[in-house]
Amino acid sequence: MTSNALNPTFADAMVRVTERAAVASETMVGRGDEKAADQAAVDAMRTALNEVVMKGRIVIGEGERDEAPMLFIGEEVGTGEGTEIDIALDPLEGTTLTAKAMPNALAVLAIAPRGGLLHAPDVYMDKIAVGPGYPAGVIDLDKSTIENAKAVAAAKGVEVGQLNVCVLDRPRHAKIIEDLRSLGIRISLISDGDVAGIINTTNPDTGIDLYLGSGGAPEGVLAAAALKCVGGQMQGRLTFRNDDERGRATRIGITDLDKKYDLHELCSKDAVFAATGVTNGGLLAGVKRQNGKVYTDSIVMSSFDGVVRNVKSTYPG
Ligand code: FBP
Repeated sequence: MTSNALNPTFADAMVRVTERAAVASETMVGRGDEKAADQAAVDAMRTALNEVVMKGRIVIGEGERDEAPMLFIGEEVGTGEGTEIDIALDPLEGTTLTAKAMPNALAVLAIAPRGGLLHAPDVYMDKIAVGPGYPAGVIDLDKSTIENAKAVAAAKGVEVGQLNVCVLDRPRHAKIIEDLRSLGIRISLISDGDVAGIINTTNPDTGIDLYLGSGGAPEGVLAAAALKCVGGQMQGRLTFRNDDERGRATRIGITDLDKKYDLHELCSKDAVFAATGVTNGGLLAGVKRQNGKVYTDSIVMSSFDGVVRNVKSTYPG
């Protein structure tokens, strides 16, 4: 069922935006310059967004107005006509992956009608996610790693040791990793890119059953928008290392700093999610240049009709 605000035209438009960001940042793959790779993606994404017929507003972007010249939080994008849209974006999810020519870098964005995406500050978020098909409430951030793993295994009908859990490879996750190992669980440690890590729980081909750990809050909202489209469960809770980070949250209107958000609070309205591979990865192939042409591989999904499309495009070189 098509909502009043979003329709398939937006899915087409948004995948073109992530394609252009991915193509631009691919020129910087393996060049060791994270900033330049990000800038290439930002420039291309902003140009492409400004061609879309919408009254767009960035709610998750490159940073606050005083620290980001482009795609800052609150920046208006689009032609200024049509539907009022909120936009969460990460023009290059995996700047380090791109600079080092490692797998799984993506250009990513999500849109929702105004007010549909949590305005998450640039702080960390504790996250837990599973794909579709589990009973409601199978995961809970307030439960321990061991309790969550056992609950998912029981719901899946397998021994807990048969689970495969995705975790960002960070020292802060030592306890999670130790607890999972104590149950004999396989752990897929990723060096970066938890948007793809969470989306992978929705794809049985990846073998990932559960995502656990903390990563960027903006990436948490992007992943929630994707799960809103394909199903699954997710919870997130902001975490703060200092008063500056708490200030970031209160400045954008968050009053309960300890709140546990569920998927439908992270993304409360219909959404469109689009991602294009920059480097090759489990979710998407990277940008390829061959025979004078540029090839892209993307996924675009929309919650208002439940359609998931894999889009392979060829651009003139
Ligand atoms: P960037 O694209 O900004 O480099 O983010 C990559 C990423 O791995 C995210 O996917 C993740 O949410 C976050 O960084 C984790 O942060 P940190 O590297 O500080 O642990």
